Amino acid sequence: MRPGSGRGLRVARDGGDHVSVYWCLMEVLSTVAAMQSARAATPGSVALVPTMGCLHEGHLALVRRARAENEHVVVSIFVNPTQFGPQEDFERYPRDPERDLRLLAAERVDAVFMPTVEEMYPPGFDEWVELRGPLTERLEGAARPGHFRGVATVVARLFRIVQPHRAYFGEKDAQQLQVIRRLVRELHLPVEILSVPTVREPDGLAMSSRNAYLSAEERRAALALSRSLRAAERLLGNGVTDAETLRRAARDEIAREPGVRLEYVSVSDGETFEELEQVERPARLLVAARAGRTRLIDNALLAP
Ligand code: PAF
Repeated sequence: MRPGSGRGLRVARDGGDHVSVYWCLMEVLSTVAAMQSARAATPGSVALVPTMGCLHEGHLALVRRARAENEHVVVSIFVNPTQFGPQEDFERYPRDPERDLRLLAAERVDAVFMPTVEEMYPPGFDEWVELRGPLTERLEGAARPGHFRGVATVVARLFRIVQPHRAYFGEKDAQQLQVIRRLVRELHLPVEILSVPTVREPDGLAMSSRNAYLSAEERRAALALSRSLRAAERLLGNGVTDAETLRRAARDEIAREPGVRLEYVSVSDGETFEELEQVERPARLLVAARAGRTRLIDNALLAP
């Protein structure tokens, strides 16, 4: 990105007594115009890692892969209101921009795009990107009406502003990843979409910014999600390809944990997200459940 602006000495606090001072080589851009002019002045390959901040190792795995494969790396941090339902957690979604910037500077990110809501959705905004069909209407689409419309709209806008050659997304949001692949295909966007496997805590919990909501007891109970995936994977490893038997194994594992309320278990085609009867080719096993008030999702590739 353009040398000069946004670089310099920064001070960050960790919320307690710890203060770090670091030399930042990153540009931090908060307007669309500043992002576009930095992009226009940047030759060579540009990667975008779209995030909603409150970064964890899962995000950093995307950033490291982008860093290794591109000359320039842009990370966006934007808690996108249009992908949250009216009863969802937009207001209380965890935000920690100072810590995020410190982590991204350490990964040698070139620029961070941190627009305000007004900047991304100026007054009078009424341009939506909506993909229809089972991919956006089942599972997360059914549980969170309007969610994928918000995701597709903001990602299309980010792509238009940043014009990356490549964009990186986590496989933890497997359905979102396919929505974005379809978005790029249907709108003929010149962006290559790359995915990075889910990063897990040592005990198996998939990393998620929403894990910050969990009490110690809820966090323990939340391990039922990854256990349910392993239970179905074990059966598949023993040659069971009947999808309902695999779903039942995952459901039974979750039912054993009273601290978790199951929303769905699905064995779906990995591209269309339609439910399968038999796993005869690579498929996705997906679970969604609540631990306390926190809604969690996880998934695994089922490769027969
Ligand atoms: O996965 C996320 O964090 C968000 O859905 C994304 C892709 C940044 C769009 O707001």
